[in-house]
Amino acid sequence: MSTSSQSAALKFEILARCSTTKARASILTLPHGPVPLPIFQPVATQASLKGLTPVQLAQTGCNLCLNNTYHLGLKPGQETLEVIGGAHVLQGWKGNILTDSGGFQMVSLLELAKITEEGVCFSSPHDGTPMLLTPEHSISLQNTIGSDIIMQLDDVIVTTSPDAVRMKEAMQRSIRWLDRCIAAHKRPEKQNLFCIIQGGLDLEMRKICCEEMARRDTPGIAIGGLSGGEDKVSYCQVVDTCTDLLPQNKPRYVMGVGYPEDLVVSVALGADMFDCVWPTRTARFGNAITATGNLNLRHASFANDFTPIDADCSCECCRSEEKGGLGITRAYIYHVASKETAGAHLLTMHNVHYLLSLMGKVRAAIIEDRYPEFLRSYFRKAYGDMQK
Ligand code: GUN
Ligand code: ZN
Repeated sequence: MSTSSQSAALKFEILARCSTTKARASILTLPHGPVPLPIFQPVATQASLKGLTPVQLAQTGCNLCLNNTYHLGLKPGQETLEVIGGAHVLQGWKGNILTDSGGFQMVSLLELAKITEEGVCFSSPHDGTPMLLTPEHSISLQNTIGSDIIMQLDDVIVTTSPDAVRMKEAMQRSIRWLDRCIAAHKRPEKQNLFCIIQGGLDLEMRKICCEEMARRDTPGIAIGGLSGGEDKVSYCQVVDTCTDLLPQNKPRYVMGVGYPEDLVVSVALGADMFDCVWPTRTARFGNAITATGNLNLRHASFANDFTPIDADCSCECCRSEEKGGLGITRAYIYHVASKETAGAHLLTMHNVHYLLSLMGKVRAAIIEDRYPEFLRSYFRKAYGDMQK
């Protein structure tokens, strides 16, 4: 079984596999440096992660973040991006960037988006003029953005949609759009195009899509159309079915997943990469992710809690002053920072660091072949001992 793959702008090497689950630890080398997998990718929608400077983002250990083609295409727009020389320069980011293709954002943000075989039609949020995002246009924008990983334009519908006919059409159209994306891609030697498996919760449709898309031989593969409110069992069945069929020697990216419990389970099912706006968005509402569950630090019960956000966390905020950190307490966030933007900054830093560090621990456990034990201990800590 091949455990590595190399294309012009990507190298993927599996370093270790769990002997009882499908978890893998690997290294993905992209044009802007190596990325240890499994990884969580924070989302910097508009070429900026809300609440963190690029230097602070790099300090969390992040070397791969996500931008959105749709947002960058509107502002600053393709012409300006062309002049500046792409999104890395625009945001002063030396690490890797993955861009989502734009269609999903339009469908989820704009109720007025309509999908035809040609592309996704929507009215501009600026002045309402009708616009069309085609697979060719999405790839052209992503070529200008210069992201290390670019995503195909896909036809995404709500996972839980009962309309099997529409679901099949979306899956088949996504395959046709992949072909158009491959044909339109002008910089395969510098940017990696990933396909996106669709097919809703129908495992037969997912199988057909996996076979068809794997045949197109893109450097990496995403599983899309999930995290749309489906139950966890259906979610796991889809990921499990896809990872059984996908080539072993390519990175697998499950889109839109970011709850810590979903990350650790999806890794056991053979997924390597994830992204989600939740960890950064929830920080702006005063929520901290911790090993024992999520805390809303705007709650009065934290008024006199002078412990760190998470005692085991080594982020800038949680680390004590003796250890060179800020020594921020829960009470500080409650009293001062929850009303000031500083609170959002600190919690964003903590949440991103927390998830990256969690993935680092996941990786170490896979390499040392103790992942099932890691999972048991993770869930025991997060939810208490279910046996009691
Ligand atoms: N983000 C979360 N899910 C999806 C998906 O299915 N497609 C795309 N393009 N982006 C996503
Ligand atoms: Zn922390």
